[in-house]
Amino acid sequence: MSFVGQVSHEFKTPLTNITLYSEMLSEYLEDEPTPVPEYLHIIRAESKRLTRLVQNVLTFNKPSRLNIKQVNLTILIKQIYQTFKPILEAKSLQLNITTLENDCIVDTDEDSVMQILNNFLSNAEKYAFNGKRIDLSLTRKGKLVTITVRDYGDGIASHLLKQIFEPFYRVNSSITEGVSGTGIGLTIAKQLASQIHGEIKVMNHNPGMAFSLILME
Ligand SMILES: Nc1ncnc2c1ncn2[C@@H]1O[C@H](COP(=O)(O)OP(=O)(O)O)[C@@H](O)[C@H]1O
Ligand SMILES: [Mg+2]
Repeated sequence: MSFVGQVSHEFKTPLTNITLYSEMLSEYLEDEPTPVPEYLHIIRAESKRLTRLVQNVLTFNKPSRLNIKQVNLTILIKQIYQTFKPILEAKSLQLNITTLENDCIVDTDEDSVMQILNNFLSNAEKYAFNGKRIDLSLTRKGKLVTITVRDYGDGIASHLLKQIFEPFYRVNSSITEGVSGTGIGLTIAKQLASQIHGEIKVMNHNPGMAFSLILME
């Protein structure tokens, strides 16, 4: 593993503990007057953000080993919704979910799917918060299953839609300026998608854009 990879790996244990203890602490302090619960909430949200970032650096350095098993996407998408809802609400972003009535079971690697969707959602949080709304959906057409993160932000110029998947590429705009990032999130999402024989599609919607992960049932 590279130096960066090793260092990132060392970040994992303390980060897990920070997340765990701040979660325990918020159970004790949930009835405290503001701003105590609010501050704790931010600590938790930011620890989770840092955990995702470390996970991205690790994946970028060393492709992860897949663990293919039956994954219920109907349940997974609800879990992701629960995780992100408070983080997004703290930024005045409304998260909506549309899912399937029935279980949607796909043979895939759960961690990869999770990491791809985490990247889509944290991008929407970072670059499209002015759209005030994000839609997370799970749909099915024949054997194709699609999970989409749609935002209502400023989007990206069409001619740059390919480049955003290149390593370290970040759009040079007022939205990206001042927002922390490494430019590897979407590169990793694409890498992971191809490992699980999935496909990523990006579309401009005006307003906003949609990132989809397409898998085979
Ligand atoms: N939902 C979005 N709306 C507008 N721009 C986006 C969105 N998602 C990604 N981008 C642009 O694509 C670039 C690459 O994204 P990514 O690979 O995740 O890197 P990072 O988030 O670390 O900058 C971002 O820097 C941003 O300029
Ligand atoms: Mg990103």
